[in-house]
Amino acid sequence: MSRMDTAPTEGTDAVLTGITKTYHSRKRTVEALGPVSLELKADEFTTLIGVSGCGKSTLLHIVAGLEQPTSGRVEIGGSEVFGPGRDRGMVFQSYTLFPWLTVQANVEFALRDTELSRAERRERAREYLELVGVSDFRDAFPSQLSGGMRQRVAIARALSYRPRMLLMDEPFGALDAQTRQDMQELLLQVWEAHRLNVLFVTHDIDEAIFLSDRIVMLSGRPGRVKLDLRPGIPRPRTVDILTSPVLMSYKARLLAALREEGAAATRAG
Ligand SMILES: Nc1ncnc2c1ncn2[C@@H]1O[C@H](COP(=O)(O)OP(=O)(O)OP(=O)(O)O)[C@@H](O)[C@H]1O
Ligand SMILES: [Mg+2]
Repeated sequence: MSRMDTAPTEGTDAVLTGITKTYHSRKRTVEALGPVSLELKADEFTTLIGVSGCGKSTLLHIVAGLEQPTSGRVEIGGSEVFGPGRDRGMVFQSYTLFPWLTVQANVEFALRDTELSRAERRERAREYLELVGVSDFRDAFPSQLSGGMRQRVAIARALSYRPRMLLMDEPFGALDAQTRQDMQELLLQVWEAHRLNVLFVTHDIDEAIFLSDRIVMLSGRPGRVKLDLRPGIPRPRTVDILTSPVLMSYKARLLAALREEGAAATRAG
């Protein structure tokens, strides 16, 4: 194929080509993923869904550079990924803040080794903590914060070095329903103001439809792209969307597809 045939479409920021992952242990081999090929756009919010164990986290870790694919490659902004980098911010389900550092210091720590001066790091951390509404807790330690507050700090930290891509693996999965709703609204606001390439993983279909421009559903293991939808719900969005007919119709479709994969997985044992 010529370069022209493989050239990504306009606005593409990340290109995943033929990604597979096979885990080997002494007793067994698990074909966890793929092949998966996806083009992700610079200003699009993409959510990955799929039955448990279909390789969502594996795919996110590969894009993050935390794991190597067995085959295939990831390119971000035209450069191949070989490891973690500041072009990608990460927020995972479990709180990954340093317990011995204050909220402010946690964000500043992420900015070490940048060209920013100490004063600039302090200013940058303040700016992003304000963006996510935790300015009043700058001097607190993570253990003094609620789960939702900690995830706000994790989001501030991931955004503070201005990555071109944000990777989020079930970031609100451990939160109670109301806090989760608050966090979804916060993320929507932040994203609508700052538009960047987001790759988000969730089990929650409402959350996927509420937040995303694009929803990619993976099949059961090894995960492959089974559905790729752009519901086209206008922005800015409010919680009213959660009860709208358009959400309900996408929800029915996605739930049916997930049930199908779940049933296939049960048959396969
Ligand atoms: N380090 C590892 N060694 C061996 N197998 C692994 C490893 N990590 C993941 N797996 C297996 O690979 C498959 C995909 O795992 P992964 O965590 O990516 O799925 P997932 O879609 O994120 O699942 P969940 O929805 O439960 O978070 C699973 O069968 C899992 O057991
Ligand atoms: Mg996972």
